[in-house]
Amino acid sequence: MNTVFACLAIFVFGIYCSPVPQNAAAYTDPACPGNIKNLWLDVVVVVDRSMQMTDAQLWQVRQTLTQVFGSDIRIGTGYSDKRSTCVGFVTYNSNATVTAELDIAKSFPDIYNIIQGSLVDVASTNASSLGEGLLAAQRVLNSGRQRTNRYNVKQVILAFAADFQDEFSNLNAIELSRDLQSNGISIITVACTKDSYALPRINMCATPGYAFVDEMNTSKLVKQLTGALININCFCPEDWVQYTGSDKKKLGVCIKGFDFSGSAWGYDHAVQYCQNQVSRGHLANEFSKEKHDFINLYMMNTFNRGMHLDYSIGLRYLNSTWVWEEPKGQPKLPLNPDIYSTWAPGYPQKNSTGQVVGVKANGILTNWVGSATSEWLFVCQVQSSSTEHYTTYVEQQ
Ligand SMILES: *[C@@H]1O[C@H](CO)[C@@H](O)[C@H](O)[C@H]1NC(C)=O
Ligand SMILES: *[C@@H]1O[C@H](CO)[C@@H](O)[C@H](O)[C@H]1NC(C)=O
Ligand SMILES: *[C@@H]1O[C@H](CO)[C@@H](O)[C@H](O)[C@H]1NC(C)=O
Ligand SMILES: *[C@@H]1O[C@H](CO)[C@@H](O)[C@H](O)[C@H]1NC(C)=O
Ligand SMILES: *[C@@H]1O[C@H](CO)[C@@H](O)[C@H](O)[C@H]1NC(C)=O
Repeated sequence: MNTVFACLAIFVFGIYCSPVPQNAAAYTDPACPGNIKNLWLDVVVVVDRSMQMTDAQLWQVRQTLTQVFGSDIRIGTGYSDKRSTCVGFVTYNSNATVTAELDIAKSFPDIYNIIQGSLVDVASTNASSLGEGLLAAQRVLNSGRQRTNRYNVKQVILAFAADFQDEFSNLNAIELSRDLQSNGISIITVACTKDSYALPRINMCATPGYAFVDEMNTSKLVKQLTGALININCFCPEDWVQYTGSDKKKLGVCIKGFDFSGSAWGYDHAVQYCQNQVSRGHLANEFSKEKHDFINLYMMNTFNRGMHLDYSIGLRYLNSTWVWEEPKGQPKLPLNPDIYSTWAPGYPQKNSTGQVVGVKANGILTNWVGSATSEWLFVCQVQSSSTEHYTTYVEQQ
């Protein structure tokens, strides 16, 4: 970026030439960062041990699990770095067997021994109830949590299924998996079959985006599962929405709108409110049209105001500069006119003090004075949790 152009643009926009950080990252919504070594999840591995699973497939399951959990993840609890992962194990055929509770494995060698001890051969039955496996996994997750007190950790079931027979029993694995997901549990499935009846049904048990098929390619599957685990570790506080780009990929940003219409509130109250909602919360920024449109659609859907929708974002005119709100204690970020800043023609203006930017239903930005009106909506933002950002977001539900 070229400074002359930056100042020219600022001149055209009628803003003082303030020092805009030449750091593009400051004006970018971060992707979900991910490092498998810093994973912090509670995972229950569920493996079909019926005769529907071939020896080669079971070997592949062992190989895959060994590589996924052997990648220097901190296993168990009690580390000075709280980012660690607990892993429980369940096998099933017609019934499920818990082969390791969540707090048994304290290191990767423990996991290796559990895998070698419980996943070496199949049982002598063709009966395979994924539902029984999922139900047992739920019990392992819940009882383990009561012992470890890891209430802020996201729960995951990783299921390897070679068949789908639940439509003939009382337990419907698809309905059960929906219940589990509505309780905040993410489900990754690996279908160890290409059967045209079983495969789509196994896939339907997965959280969208986390249904995989074992193609007997270990490195591919390890990569897919590692990516899914890192992605699940990137999440928002309860009731907040995660910002997703136009490609539907999750980004490391969470959004929530609030309605204080009818109360004598103003911009400064909104700033404090966002800070009090969640650690490092702040009024939302809009560095791209994509983000602007995402927030606008979310606010339209959340608050039924039709074309009367007005809400405040975290942009205001302060000490002769337009600045974006940042987490409490961090310096505010000057408006960068080189990126998305298509405010209404002639706006923002430098000649009126105390202005804040409000967004209207039709997406056009207008200047607002910073005082309360009868309509008073605003939108907060916070960094998502991730392998690189340990939080207590889940605990707050
Ligand atoms: C499987 O579960 C059923 C119903 O709970 C029970 O009657 C049966 O004995 C169990 N079978 C095995 C092998 O545990
Ligand atoms: C399992 O199914 C296969 C193929 O349908 C069959 O050959 C085998 O006898 C069955 N085994 C048992 C234990 O039912
Ligand atoms: C396994 O998958 C990877 C892509 O993840 C691919 O590059 C490789 O060729 C595959 N190996 C085999 C044997 O198909
Ligand atoms: C704005 O200027 C006033 C007076 O110079 C100063 O006290 C205040 O800290 C400034 N605020 C910010 C956010 O820089
Ligand atoms: C600010 O300046 C613009 C032109 O740059 C003018 O149209 C507007 O009336 C001015 N506003 C105030 C409050 O002085």
